[in-house]
Amino acid sequence: MLFSLRSFCCLAIVAHLASAYNFPYEVIQLKDSDVTGNPDIAFGQLPSGIQAKCKTFPGDSNWPSEKRWAAFNTSLGGALTQNPPPVATCYEGPFQDAAKCDAAIKGSSSSLFAKENPLIPFQMWTLGNPCPIPAANNVNKFCNISSFPVYVVDATTVKHIQLAINFARNNNIRLTIKNTGHDFVGRNTGGGALQVWVHHLKAFEYLTTFQIAGYDGKAARVGAALEQYDLLGYMDASNVTLLTPGSSTVGAYGGFMQGGGFGYATSKFGLMADQVIAVEVVTADGRFVHADLKENEDLFWAIRGGGPGNFGIVTSAVVKAHDPVSFATWSFNFGTEIVGGNTTTSIQVSTDVFWKGVSAYFSHLVRINDANGIGWNSIGTTAPTSFNPRGFSFTGQVMMPAMASDEFRNFMAPMVTDLNDLGINITNPVPKWFESFPKSQYRAKGPGENVGNIRMVSRLWPRSIFEDTSSQKFTTAMAAIRSFVEDGGYSFHSVDYHPSNKVAGFPGTHSAVNPHLRTAIMHSTGFDTVSHGPDSTDEQQIAGHMRLRQYAQKWIDATPGSGSYMNEGDTEEPEFQKRLYGSNYERLYEIKKNRDPWGLFYVVTGVASDEWVVEGSRDGLPTQQGRLCRV
Ligand SMILES: Cc1cc2nc3c(=O)[nH]c(=O)nc-3n(C[C@H](O)[C@H](O)[C@H](O)COP(=O)(O)OP(=O)(O)OC[C@H]3O[C@@H](n4cnc5c(N)ncnc54)[C@H](O)[C@@H]3O)c2cc1C
Ligand SMILES: *[C@@H]1O[C@H](CO)[C@@H](O)[C@H](O)[C@H]1NC(C)=O
Ligand SMILES: *[C@@H]1O[C@H](CO)[C@@H](O)[C@H](O)[C@H]1NC(C)=O
Ligand SMILES: *[C@@H]1O[C@H](CO)[C@@H](O)[C@H](O)[C@H]1NC(C)=O
Ligand SMILES: *[C@@H]1O[C@H](CO)[C@@H](O)[C@H](O)[C@H]1NC(C)=O
Ligand SMILES: *[C@@H]1O[C@H](CO)[C@@H](O)[C@H](O)[C@H]1NC(C)=O
Repeated sequence: MLFSLRSFCCLAIVAHLASAYNFPYEVIQLKDSDVTGNPDIAFGQLPSGIQAKCKTFPGDSNWPSEKRWAAFNTSLGGALTQNPPPVATCYEGPFQDAAKCDAAIKGSSSSLFAKENPLIPFQMWTLGNPCPIPAANNVNKFCNISSFPVYVVDATTVKHIQLAINFARNNNIRLTIKNTGHDFVGRNTGGGALQVWVHHLKAFEYLTTFQIAGYDGKAARVGAALEQYDLLGYMDASNVTLLTPGSSTVGAYGGFMQGGGFGYATSKFGLMADQVIAVEVVTADGRFVHADLKENEDLFWAIRGGGPGNFGIVTSAVVKAHDPVSFATWSFNFGTEIVGGNTTTSIQVSTDVFWKGVSAYFSHLVRINDANGIGWNSIGTTAPTSFNPRGFSFTGQVMMPAMASDEFRNFMAPMVTDLNDLGINITNPVPKWFESFPKSQYRAKGPGENVGNIRMVSRLWPRSIFEDTSSQKFTTAMAAIRSFVEDGGYSFHSVDYHPSNKVAGFPGTHSAVNPHLRTAIMHSTGFDTVSHGPDSTDEQQIAGHMRLRQYAQKWIDATPGSGSYMNEGDTEEPEFQKRLYGSNYERLYEIKKNRDPWGLFYVVTGVASDEWVVEGSRDGLPTQQGRLCRV
C-alpha cells in the first residue's frame, strides 16, 4: 500500500508485513526521495556506532546555522516554532510584557494552560526552576530561556516527526517529546533540545469488529494525543468502555500508556498498556513502522509499559473496546478532632481510632479488587502546634464497575460495620451509581488539573500483604504508612488496584509492564509539597529529598523485593532498573541498544538512562537544563 517494505537489520525478519496506518495524518510521510542529497534529514542506518560524548548545545561551533534551521523549517512546511516560555514575559528583557505575564501567572496553575504550550511542563523543579513564576522572595529571580528546548516541531503529520527525528539525530541534538506535559519526573523537556510536540495528533474511530491473531472483538483506532476527556466523549458516543486516565487532561496514549497507565476500571480490564493491540511508531532511524505481536514484536513489547519516550514516537494505536459498564462509587471520610481547615464535615475520632479505621479500610482491599473494583484514598495531616496535637484526615473512595447500586451497598456493608465497630459512625452509605463512567464526570475540555511543584515517592505493595490482615506483614505495612504520615508529616495517597495477568489478558500479558505492578494491590505515593517551589534553594531541595527518601524507606522495608510505579515516582528512584522495570530490564536494554544505538530518546529513569547525565545535576537536585552527556 503506502509503505515501502522495510526489514530490520539485526532482529528476526518477520514474515507478515502488514502495511498499516490508522489516520490520514499518518499517510503523509517522509520518502527516501525527499532526503536525497540532504544529510540533515537523511534516514539513520542501523546498526550504528557510539557517537560523540555530549549532545551538541546551542552556541557550540557545530550547532546548525540559522540557514540550516530555516531550511529544516521549509522541509517541515513551516511547522518549526521558536518562542520563549510564557513566564519570560515577567522578566526584564526583550520578552517583557505585563499583560502576558499576568496571563501566564494566572494560567500557570492549571493544566489547561500548561498543555497548550509546547515548552512548559508540570513540575518546574524537575528542570531546575529555570524560569520561575515571580514569587514572594524571588530567590531565583532570573529567567534562563536557554534551559528550555530551543525549537519546537508542532507535529501534525508523521512526516513532521520523521523530519524532527532525522534532523536531531544527524546533528547530535537532544530530542524531547511533549504531549500534555503532565509528567511528574521531567521526561518531557530538556535544555538545548529540539522538542517534538505531539499534542495535536488527535483522532478517533470506533471499530465494531477488529480481528488480529488472538483478538476478535470491538476496538478503536486512537490518535496518540487523545486526553481523558476526549475519550469520555467518544465512549459515550460509541456506547463502549475504554480504559482512561483518572484525570481529565492526562494524555491516554503518550506517557500514560507507555509507563503502564492505571484507570478506574484497571482491576477489571487491566492497564492502558494492556489495551493496545497494535501501534504505529516512528523509530530512532526515522522510519515509520507498524508494531504488533507479529511485526516488530520487540518494539510492540517494549513500548507497552517499558517506559515513555524511550523507544520511539507513537502516532496512533488500535486498542480494545469493552462492552459498556456501569460505574458505582462510594466516598467516605473521617478525621481526628484537629484536622485543620474545615472540620465540620468530618467524623471526629481519637488518633488511635483514626489509625484503626485506616487499617480497617485497607483490610478490605482484596475483597474490593477481587470484585474488579478499585480503592482510592488520601491521608492528610496538620502539624502539631503548642495548643494542638498533630491532626489527621482520611478520605476514601471505592469505585466499582459493573455492579448494581443495591448490590454495591451490600458489598460495602462489611466495611461500614468494621468502621462502626471502631466508633467511626459512618451511616447509611448512599453510593452514587451511573450508567457509565463518562456519565459520572464527562465535561467537554476538562475541567483540567492543578499544576504545582511537588516531589513524590512511589511504592507498589504486593497483594500477599493484604491477604491475611492478622499477619505480621499487614501490621508492618500499616505501621509504615502511619509513620510516614505521623512521624514524617507527609500526606499519603494510594490507589488500590490489581492489574493481574488474568485481567491483563491478551496481548497484555506479553508486554514490558513492570512485573511488580502485576502482583501489587496498592500503589502509594507520598508528597513533599514544600521543598521544591520556585522560592526553594538548592540546599532546601536536597535536604527535602533526603528526608522524603528516609521515610519512604519504611515502605520499602515493609514490601521487600517489590518495586515502584515509574509514572508517579521519584526522579531519583534508587535501583530504578529493578524497581521500575523488574525482570524486564535486561530485554528492554537489548531492544533499546538495537533500536536506538544513538541514544536519541533519552528520558530520566528510562532504560539505559544511567549511561547519561544532564550537566549541572546533583544528588537530590535533578535538572533537565544543561547539556546531556554520556557518563
Ligand atoms: C493530574 C494527574 C493525574 C494523573 N493520573 C494518572 C492516573 O490516573 N493513572 C496513571 O497511571 N497515571 C496518572 N498520572 C501520571 C501520568 O501517567 C504521567 O504524568 C504521564 O507521563 C502522562 O503522560 P502524557 O503523555 O499526558 O504527558 P507528557 O508529560 O506530555 O509526556 C510524558 C512522557 O511521555 C512521552 N511521550 C508522550 N507522548 C508520546 C508519544 N506520542 N510517543 C512517545 N513518547 C511520548 C514524553 O517523552 C514524556 O517522556 C497523572 C498525572 C497527573 C499530573
Ligand atoms: C517557520 O516557518 C513558518 C512559516 O513560514 C514561520 O511562520 C515560522 O516563524 C518559522 N519558524 C522559525 C523558527 O523561524
Ligand atoms: C449500549 O450497548 C448495550 C450492550 O452492548 C446495549 O444493551 C444498550 O442498549 C446500548 N445503549 C445504547 C444507547 O445504544
Ligand atoms: C465547611 O464545609 C461545609 C460543607 O462543604 C461548608 O458549607 C462550610 O461553609 C465550610 N466552612 C468553612 C469554615 O469553610
Ligand atoms: C457513635 O455512635 C455511638 C452510638 O450512637 C455513640 O455512642 C458514639 O458516641 C458515637 N461516636 C462518635 C465519635 O460520634
Ligand atoms: C542558563 O542555562 C544554561 C544551560 O543550563 C547554562 O549554561 C547557563 O549558565 C545559564 N545561565 C545563567 C545565567 O544561569
